[in-house]
Amino acid sequence: MVSLSGCGKGSSSAQSTVGSADVPATTHGAVPIPPVGNAVRGKKLFAENCAMCHGNHGQGVTLVGQDLQTSKFVFSRPAAKVVAFIKHGRSVTNPLNRRHIAMPPFGGNANLTNQDLYDIMAYLRKLQ
Ligand code: HEC
Repeated sequence: MVSLSGCGKGSSSAQSTVGSADVPATTHGAVPIPPVGNAVRGKKLFAENCAMCHGNHGQGVTLVGQDLQTSKFVFSRPAAKVVAFIKHGRSVTNPLNRRHIAMPPFGGNANLTNQDLYDIMAYLRKLQ
């Protein structure tokens, strides 16, 4: 039996010092700065990981990956939401799924980092 109580994700005692007088009002380290993507890098990553299903220029591939150039899903959501989607993929049973095939999580490459995905997003935004 292993008795570890989690990997630091527990909500137990993590916040014990918040609000104490010696903590400055604004702790810059705690403010999430939206990652900024690099579209040039994103283009390369897209070619390597997404183009086989979504086309070299995100134009879509018949019966496989959607057209991402005109995708409302992509341009109507904040980058963070789309990044979350890419990590998760879309199962065949998802009501939004129109192609009746699944989008694999991370497009099938779980080694893609957050920064990689934001770079891909920056590239996708330029296509639209
Ligand atoms: C194995 C094929 C495959 C790969 C690889 C793949 N996708 Fe997809 N993707 C799909 C399919 C299939 C769908 C749509 C399923 C449906 O809803 O009908 C989809 C949907 C999407 C959507 C939603 C579009 C919309 O309008 O609903 C986004 C965004 C997306 N993919 C981005 C990516 C990115 C970025 C990558 C690379 C990291 C990637 N995909 C890799 C197959 C793939």
